[in-house]
Amino acid sequence: MVKEKIFPDNFLWGVATSAFQLEGSPYADWASWDALLDTKPDVTNHYALYKEDLNLLKDLGVNAYRFSLEWSRIQPREHAWDDSAIAHYQEVVDILVKNNIEPIVTLHHFTHPIWFIKKYPWHEAASIEKFLLFIERIVSTLKGIRHWITFNEPYVLILGGYFEGCTPPGIKDVSLGVKALKNILTSHGKAYDIIHSHIPDAKVSVAHNMAALAPWRIWNPLDSLLSRIAKHFYNHSLIDAFLTGTLHIKFPFKKAIEIVVPIKDKLDFFGVNYYTRIHMRFNPFKKMGVELRHRDIDGYGLTDMGWEIHPHGLEKVLRYASKLEVPLIITENGIATHDSEKKIKFMKRHVDVLERCIKDGIDVRGYFYWSLIDNYEWLQGLDARFGLYRVDFDTLKRRPTNAAAYYSYLIKSRDF
Ligand code: FCB
Repeated sequence: MVKEKIFPDNFLWGVATSAFQLEGSPYADWASWDALLDTKPDVTNHYALYKEDLNLLKDLGVNAYRFSLEWSRIQPREHAWDDSAIAHYQEVVDILVKNNIEPIVTLHHFTHPIWFIKKYPWHEAASIEKFLLFIERIVSTLKGIRHWITFNEPYVLILGGYFEGCTPPGIKDVSLGVKALKNILTSHGKAYDIIHSHIPDAKVSVAHNMAALAPWRIWNPLDSLLSRIAKHFYNHSLIDAFLTGTLHIKFPFKKAIEIVVPIKDKLDFFGVNYYTRIHMRFNPFKKMGVELRHRDIDGYGLTDMGWEIHPHGLEKVLRYASKLEVPLIITENGIATHDSEKKIKFMKRHVDVLERCIKDGIDVRGYFYWSLIDNYEWLQGLDARFGLYRVDFDTLKRRPTNAAAYYSYLIKSRDF
């Protein structure tokens, strides 16, 4: 019997990384944020070992690789550019292209040069111009890249940096956060035009973190209300703003706001990062009355980070994102676990859901497992083992887990 072909031709099967999580950088805001990084400043030393790591991509048999440029290495001081850092990333791109591996480049993946975050944090309008200078420099210099992601998870950046204050710039002020979000999205809109002016056939997007969101107690109207508001804000408002040019934000127990953002149709595909389901519970002692929880409902367990494994949520978020009528790419999906068998089941279950979605007509063109090798996880450090390859952080040796072999098999068995 001939197997029915479901995944489209040229489907991108890849893995995703981000520069700072593998390479560190002495010039980045995060470097001084986490004391752990004093002892592990270059994390996996990927900046030096990149050739070895790019060989792992060949071993896996992927045809795409998502990685980011560390802005703080390229522009360590406001008026000093380091061309050798750009040359380094050009070499990475060249190696990929030579090996028929499509590069997908993220321009901003959470970290900033220290000078930028000190002088021009995102809630200042001048941040836009400074970021665009970086974009201009990159797209006029780096050759061989068609797929660009301007921002990784803009909402996560804002919630961490301006709401919880647990990531740089460490502010807890919702109205500054809203200003910052506006400036970030404005930067995306302008970056979209700059990229296209240099590379007319470029494919540009953001990578949006989407989660399945549900009430903790289904019988409780306040839990239901919070989960609806959260879904609207966290998952949907950005997608709707790409369709309308207006960001509509509802807050629990407060007046909604509307902000005009110049991003209508500034999208050639849409990147979705999907990991988990989160339950919302009303708790008057928490900020805005919201408490977030994970629990194992499907019986697939929790990850080492306590996140619920909920493959079905992938279908929900893809369905909503398909409203955009641009191709979708799953730019991240992965699990922190020391247990390879659990990692394998996680991948299989999510790719099965993906296969069903494609069969149902949702236009998905790529899947990127997070991550190639173990790396620094923002709030957890080195113990969150997302890698297909295990890294020994003392010797920096990379060793394949069984999940690496499984991913290679999975790629081959799904029409690659
Ligand atoms: C995502 C981030 C990525 C990584 C994974 C686990 O939200 O984009 O950098 O930390 O979570």
